[in-house]
Amino acid sequence: MMEVKNISVSYGAGNIVADISFSVNKDDRLFILGRNGVGKTTLLKGIMGILPIKGTLYFKEQNITKYSAARRSQKGIAYVPQGREIFPDLTVAENLEMGALYHKVDYEKKLREILEYFPILTEHMVRKGGVLSGGQQQQLAIARALMGEPDILMLDEPTEGIQPNIVTHISDILMLYHKEKHIPVIIVEQNLKFAKKLGSKFVIIQKGSIVKAGKIEELTDEISVKYLSV
Ligand SMILES: Nc1ncnc2c1ncn2[C@@H]1O[C@H](COP(=O)(O)OP(=O)(O)OP(=O)(O)O)[C@@H](O)[C@H]1O
Ligand SMILES: [Mg+2]
Repeated sequence: MMEVKNISVSYGAGNIVADISFSVNKDDRLFILGRNGVGKTTLLKGIMGILPIKGTLYFKEQNITKYSAARRSQKGIAYVPQGREIFPDLTVAENLEMGALYHKVDYEKKLREILEYFPILTEHMVRKGGVLSGGQQQQLAIARALMGEPDILMLDEPTEGIQPNIVTHISDILMLYHKEKHIPVIIVEQNLKFAKKLGSKFVIIQKGSIVKAGKIEELTDEISVKYLSV
């Protein structure tokens, strides 16, 4: 489905992400874990095509390493950046419409379908995105990403600054969507409880490289103390 092969990313001198490889298939929910500043966001931006990469990226049996971010998006890679980055001055409805732009979807049909996963948004369709609560904005950001009917979903710290009951709610929505649509999910996180609840496998990054990887059941307290605790 997606194979990340020996990917390195830099902002000039020195690699921030160095020689990372992993793959995901349609039934995977992969968590990318690691302390602050280890390169998690940089890695996702490299996969999305926002930063140039060294190495090779395969998606749906195709080498897409040279594709622009826009082309990767059209090919079916969706990405919700850290901090959500919805359009604060556009309404919720307009934000969702933006998500469908440049994608071959029946907008009205897709909107109805996506709102079933995110019922809270139906109450706020004509409000500006920027006035929603953090938890609602995160749901809007994910819903917008799904409007393009992606074949893979990548989320960067979706639980950051969100209260626990909303985190549980978002986790349930993501699990349901994943089960119904059979698309892989890649999530960068620091929230271990969320990772253990939703994940099926994990990688841990330290200084830009993978130091540990496995099934989520193999993520023991010993490992989290060693690589993740502050
Ligand atoms: N635009 C940039 N130019 C230069 N260096 C950058 C830039 N963006 C990030 N970095 C550096 O790259 C390293 C990795 O940053 P990155 O944002 O990928 O970390 P992260 O693992 O996502 O951290 P966090 O958990 O805090 O979000 C950091 O040392 C950071 O200072
Ligand atoms: Mg980050």
